[in-house]
Amino acid sequence: MDLKPGQEVLNFNLIKRSKPVEVEGVPLARGTAENWSLLQAFAARPDDLLICTYPKAGTTWIQEIVDMLQQGGDPQKCARAPIYKRMPYIDLFLPKPMTSGLEDAEAMPSPRTLKTHLPVQLLPPSFWEQNCKVIYVARNAKDNAVSYFHFHRMNPIMPEPGNWDQFLEDFLDGKVSGGSWFDHVCGWWDAKDRHPVLYLFYEDMKEDPDREIQKVARFLGIDLTEPVLKRIVQHTAFESMKANPMTNYSTIPSSFLDQNVSNFMRKGTVGDWKEHFTVAQSERLDEVCARELGGSDLTFRMQL
Ligand code: A3P
Repeated sequence: MDLKPGQEVLNFNLIKRSKPVEVEGVPLARGTAENWSLLQAFAARPDDLLICTYPKAGTTWIQEIVDMLQQGGDPQKCARAPIYKRMPYIDLFLPKPMTSGLEDAEAMPSPRTLKTHLPVQLLPPSFWEQNCKVIYVARNAKDNAVSYFHFHRMNPIMPEPGNWDQFLEDFLDGKVSGGSWFDHVCGWWDAKDRHPVLYLFYEDMKEDPDREIQKVARFLGIDLTEPVLKRIVQHTAFESMKANPMTNYSTIPSSFLDQNVSNFMRKGTVGDWKEHFTVAQSERLDEVCARELGGSDLTFRMQL
């Protein structure tokens, strides 16, 4: 996404809330669905690294961690551009004249780190053909749903979320953009046994960032010294990223992301769902989780 000075007003007029459009049974943002064949034809390169998440699972956080690792722990190098320019979001298509994430990726020299929210079965096949490394971050369904609700409120390209009760129904029914949270986390969980996928959990990252950053470094074949690790932990802590204009999305005009409605860096905790869920909603989600995840060894922590 490339915004030029003066484009904001023009483009805001083109941004409209619109319902997701189904692609192979999965509701996706209208722009993604309309550019589906382009996206499927995307040519991944063997040294591409792909960061994948269900929306609001901690994408920006893992992106900044990865960039810090790639830049030898130098925050100045990570400040070269906002995170969405450093790592194009390949399934994001905004109205012209803004460039799409796909175009940004194509224009980028290797090695590239790219971002996607696609469920595993919809990933452009070239990523598998090129055996690209993937880092996946999953977050417990309750916190993920709450974060996604607030993101709908502040982002005028998302569908109207309605109130929390209505949004939670849509989330549980898999009717939100990105489709079913359950299918997403399970699909990528299975994929890790067949492909080079590092599967991380938001809750683990909160619990012990040093340990999880070391996992990422090993996966990327990066040697990490103790001082660099400490710097990365400090630089990617929630409060640091909230204050950093290169990660907090404050460089996007408020007509696109209205941080007066809700901050992009909102709470950054495990367990904020307790402020939103009724007991009945919580029990219902637990039941759906038990049913949908029952057949797999994938488990989530709802609190630390
Ligand atoms: P909350 O809305 O619960 O606060 P994404 O980057 O996938 O859009 O996810 C955004 C969510 O990750 C938000 O969750 C945001 O606050 C949280 N987040 C971003 N950076 C974080 C960090 N460094 N530590 C913890 N949480 C972070």
